Amino acid sequence: MKVLIAGGAGYIGSTVASACSDAGITPVILDSLVTGRREFTAGRAFYEGDIADGPLVDRIFAEHPDISAVVHCAALIVVPDSVADPVGYYRANVAKSLDLVAHLLRNGCRRLIFSSSAAIYRAGEDLTVDEDSLVDPQSPYARTKAVCEAMFADVAATQPIRVLSLRYFNPIGADPKMRTGLQLARPTHALGKMIQAQQEGVPFVITGADWPTRDGSGLRDYVHVWDLAAAHVAALTRFDALPGQATVINLGTGTGTTVRELLAAFNRVTGRPVEVREAARRPGDVAGACSRIDRAERLLGWRPQYDLAEGISHSLQWAALRDEILPGGPGTR
Ligand SMILES: NC(=O)c1ccc[n+]([C@@H]2O[C@H](COP(=O)([O-])OP(=O)(O)OC[C@H]3O[C@@H](n4cnc5c(N)ncnc54)[C@H](O)[C@@H]3O)[C@@H](O)[C@H]2O)c1
Repeated sequence: MKVLIAGGAGYIGSTVASACSDAGITPVILDSLVTGRREFTAGRAFYEGDIADGPLVDRIFAEHPDISAVVHCAALIVVPDSVADPVGYYRANVAKSLDLVAHLLRNGCRRLIFSSSAAIYRAGEDLTVDEDSLVDPQSPYARTKAVCEAMFADVAATQPIRVLSLRYFNPIGADPKMRTGLQLARPTHALGKMIQAQQEGVPFVITGADWPTRDGSGLRDYVHVWDLAAAHVAALTRFDALPGQATVINLGTGTGTTVRELLAAFNRVTGRPVEVREAARRPGDVAGACSRIDRAERLLGWRPQYDLAEGISHSLQWAALRDEILPGGPGTR
């Protein structure tokens, strides 16, 4: 089997590409390198360019007529940037995705797997969500994901293509073989900040200690990026058995972890506790949610294999290697 991975030079797409290769599926990469890294495409068929570039997509399908599915991970993903530049974000994530699906239809591609996000949900009081929970995105970024899902479902309703939207929760970790990981030197998510606090000997700041969670800190569902990648392999393998023209599946662990719990796990893994400070909530933050994962299990036969400590440990290993594998490049997200 051969699969086109749009955004395959990024954090998740490159990991999906490795998982595909390991499973005997040949990845072909299309990436503009706007945030991705050329190093992550080494040894793979790689087309540098934009998903909206019709002649380029036509050339890829002409040169690889055996591509049987597309995994679409190409997007801009920084929430505050999407607030500052909504036009740019809708153009990059929605308009270009619409162009891409038109190019796929023209080239006879029948299977599309779309990288969606748990950020589109409004969680109930118990802070868990499943695929039927209310969709109520709270940022332009998250709304671009919800709009794309709806747009693809409309296309799939009458056109010869089927769509699976995978709603990722909070990816952590790296390829366990350390081929790829987060390309940014200074990631801004909680685990990235903990690693930075430890490296620089500065306090880790808990932003918001008054959320309606068991200890007041925000709650997330941290899923290992290799488990996410394995879910894509399962989805590619089982695609034709999925129900309906457009399906959505949550990819999380089913376990919520608060920031304080993440910090405790981090300290256990490193054995060197970082100092902690508390600060007010940041604008736009949410209490968070974790996934109910029955559908992923039922439709994909998928369950996460890695636990939180392994995700933390792989993130630390990658952080120690990152500058050697990816010299220079973008610093923060
Ligand atoms: N990382 C997360 O926390 C997270 C959570 C939920 C969903 N997602 C989704 O997963 C996908 C991948 O995220 P990631 O964390 O790997 O981000 P990333 O920035 O590492 O990867 C995105 C890749 O897409 C490429 N790209 C962007 N726009 C493009 C375009 N127009 N044409 C060609 N290539 C383009 C970038 O160069 C990059 O390689 C995104 O769609 C994102 O919305 C990510």
